[in-house]
Amino acid sequence: AVAVGWRVRKRREWKKAVRVVREVEEECETSVERLRQVVDAMAVEMHAGLASEGGSKLKMLLTHVHNLPNGSERGTYYALDLEDTYFRVLRVHLDGQQSPILEHEVEQQTIPQHLLTSTSKDFFDFIASSLKEFVEKEGDDSELSVARRKELGFTFSFPIKQISVCSGILIAWTKGFSIVDMVGKDVPACLQEALVQKGLDLRVAALVNDTVGTLALGYYHDADTVAAIVIGTSTNACYLERTDAIIKCQGLLTTSRSMVVNMEWGNFWSSHLPRTTYDIDLNAESPNPNDQGFEKMISGMYLGDIVRRIILKMSLESDIFGDISSKFSMPFILSTPMIAAMHEDDSPNLREVARILKDILEIPVVPLKVRKLMVKVCEIVTRRAARLAAAGIVGILKKIGRDGSGGITGGRRSDMKMRRTVVAIEGDLYSNYTLFREYLHEALHEILGEDIAKHVILKVTEDGSGIGTALLAASHSSK
Ligand code: GLC
Repeated sequence: AVAVGWRVRKRREWKKAVRVVREVEEECETSVERLRQVVDAMAVEMHAGLASEGGSKLKMLLTHVHNLPNGSERGTYYALDLEDTYFRVLRVHLDGQQSPILEHEVEQQTIPQHLLTSTSKDFFDFIASSLKEFVEKEGDDSELSVARRKELGFTFSFPIKQISVCSGILIAWTKGFSIVDMVGKDVPACLQEALVQKGLDLRVAALVNDTVGTLALGYYHDADTVAAIVIGTSTNACYLERTDAIIKCQGLLTTSRSMVVNMEWGNFWSSHLPRTTYDIDLNAESPNPNDQGFEKMISGMYLGDIVRRIILKMSLESDIFGDISSKFSMPFILSTPMIAAMHEDDSPNLREVARILKDILEIPVVPLKVRKLMVKVCEIVTRRAARLAAAGIVGILKKIGRDGSGGITGGRRSDMKMRRTVVAIEGDLYSNYTLFREYLHEALHEILGEDIAKHVILKVTEDGSGIGTALLAASHSSK
């Protein structure tokens, strides 16, 4: 009787845990109908963000990039790519023969932690010193570099109000930065000042968001590239827009027909997004509540923590993990690579899942069926993320009339001849998490239908935020 009672209790506990998972699965549901609503919402918000400043949560920032590199660029150019904990400097040699980039060199350096919250002067002094060292190491033996002033593209992947291609004011920090006095300042001017003080003759020719660098590199290799997406720790997108569709920049003196727009799509929001209590709590406890809502559902920084919150709930509602581990309550203890490792564990006993549960969450023994439930949780969270990212991409295609529907203003499918459409894509989540990538592709095909989807190519670019930015320095060179 004792054994029967034990089994009944175990079954009851199991059911409670399964109920938590079922509920979250329902809440995360992304049917193709729902995804189409997200597509429409994205296209509508893009319109609103282009119509007026502050017209939408989508900032739709002007980049003043009208010309993407086309292969005729020549010379040696530099790029500085500022990431969250490190920065990279690159030197890229171009021969103007439409040929692939001749060669490039990269150096990476960690940013000392204290500088992330210091002053703009201290920060840029440090960067300028490192740049100087890198540039001077070149040995100045090439004729090109002696004779000419050097030019640099600066990848600065934060929301910026750009006044021109080489100047822009920081609207707000995201990620781990908090150099308070820099908000509201012209970022390239700060860097330029530090470079001058170090006696380095290096001109900041272009200030570039990482997505814009990705677009530049994508376009350099394939002129059918119309948009670029970054899906890694954080996420964003940019695309080539017709200048006359950018209502808020009318009056701007330009003869160019198009401009790259940095959407800052991480901040997209729509009531159609399938939001759960876990998202609501994650948002409330984040340092930037109510900002970056889309990013918090789809990017690498957050997926692990959404999974952790679901496991915590399972452990509170049932005893399937045995005693509650204090690790369940530690924010960000589960990283997205761990989620990917559990999700893609193809060993028969789910060894990797067991290892992560034991080593990271300190749950020593977990039955196989509980491990399977863990895989399910990872699948639910990742699948929703990938499918929403796909809807975002189709939203852009719809806005520019490349979704086969004739654009947001209407038009009949049959009237349209779909052109080859390339979207450049970069970021760990897409490149390294196979199932994420597969879900994204699957959703893209579901939303667009095979006939249209076959014309849409997602192309991984490598190091757009480095090489792409150097290419933009070249195409905006004063030489
Ligand atoms: C954040 C930034 C955005 C950047 C993205 C990817 O969302 O706000 O500018 O492009 O991260 O790095």
